[in-house]
Amino acid sequence: MNLRSGRLDKKMTEDAAEYTSSLEADKHIFYSDVKCNFAHVLMLKNEKIIDEEIADKILEALTKLKDEGFEALNFDHSVEDIHMAIENYVTNMVGSDVAGFMHTAKSRNDQVATDIRLTLREKIIEIQIPILEFIEGLVELAEKHKETVTIGYTHLQHAQPITMAHNFMAYAQSLKRDYERLSDTYKRVNQNPLGSAAMTTTSFPINRELTTKLLGFDSYLENSMDGVSARDYIAETVFDLATLTTTLSKMCEEMVLWSTYEFGIIEIADEFSSTSSIMPQKKNPDVAEVARAKSTVINGELITIMTILKAIPYTYNRDLQEITPHLWNSVKIAHDTLNIVSKMVLSININKKRCLELAGANFATATDLADVMVKEKKIPFRTAHKIVGRLVNLSIEMGLEIGDINSSFIDGIANDLGFNKLKLSYDSIQKSLDPLENVKMRQVPGGPSPEMVQLACNN
Ligand code: ARG
Repeated sequence: MNLRSGRLDKKMTEDAAEYTSSLEADKHIFYSDVKCNFAHVLMLKNEKIIDEEIADKILEALTKLKDEGFEALNFDHSVEDIHMAIENYVTNMVGSDVAGFMHTAKSRNDQVATDIRLTLREKIIEIQIPILEFIEGLVELAEKHKETVTIGYTHLQHAQPITMAHNFMAYAQSLKRDYERLSDTYKRVNQNPLGSAAMTTTSFPINRELTTKLLGFDSYLENSMDGVSARDYIAETVFDLATLTTTLSKMCEEMVLWSTYEFGIIEIADEFSSTSSIMPQKKNPDVAEVARAKSTVINGELITIMTILKAIPYTYNRDLQEITPHLWNSVKIAHDTLNIVSKMVLSININKKRCLELAGANFATATDLADVMVKEKKIPFRTAHKIVGRLVNLSIEMGLEIGDINSSFIDGIANDLGFNKLKLSYDSIQKSLDPLENVKMRQVPGGPSPEMVQLACNN
């Protein structure tokens, strides 16, 4: 089938044809295009728009092509895209007198819009399943580390004790939202543009409900101009993927930091590490680093897509073709990054001793010493904050450790600051400063106590 023997006399130059062809990226929509043609021809037959016999021959050719696969097509770049390549295949099989009916009441404009949606909805699920598996793995890991106390950070400075489990469940919660975001987008992806034809539907009495049903869409798009020009669902999906890989990238950032000599909290498995070609002692977190960088590419793809979209008028413009490869690239990066990062995170080795050491250092439990003053002595939290702040300052100056903090030291400071003596017992003081006790006392939903983390794991 040569489209150019009608309106156009001359062939495109070879470089122009190659430049504008989408055949390479169209491999992603090959099966969807076969499916789309199949549903359309079935509907044409059902509505008696084309003869039964003709329809059956076309359907047979499409079935054969489905079995033979993409490789059965002609890859000559003079063929503009997959739609023409498939029409050519059917024409070769059953002759133009039959194949010529396949395109009745259909345009490549509604066809490509349909194909992308068909492929994308599968790809979304292919990403959602490993997200769920990763969450499951994190829950299992968390259940093993409910009492593995470590230090939590704000501003990357020691803040308050947490458990590794609480940290892993934070990952799980973010991933859950990433999953839900994709589910929400899926609803808008799973709508049928077929029947919009070039932009105004058609005068043939097509049955859009039938193709919607045959292709498993939830509904059809109600405006044919919107049907062929809408790509917001692509931008939305890529945003979801960028958010997902941002979650993964943040994890990678922690893996890189935690595996340093300075932090020493974890060891990344050898399978996800590299060494140096010159420094024999090195164990480098290359997988985490590459994942951190690759996720950035999706942010770029999102901007590219949004920028192409903003400048084109309704309805179909060929610019739209240039959006699709950025979608598939984002899908691939998100898929691969999710796969590798989940394996890497779930195979880390945690150094519990180092975790506890960090949790007990640097007066990270100071908030609870202030809290105990409020609870037992009913003084305002701001007063307690001031006393403990001074206490930490002095302790660092004097080289004191948690075990050295006693009532007379605290009351001396309270006195200096013009407050009454508190007379706290040594036990209360020490209990409030103990990292594990500190964590256990946080019995509020969402908190790090083993019971609350278990509750989160169960949900
Ligand atoms: N390859 C095109 C795309 O991906 C298919 C639709 C072409 N339509 C047209 N009128 N040239 O958007």
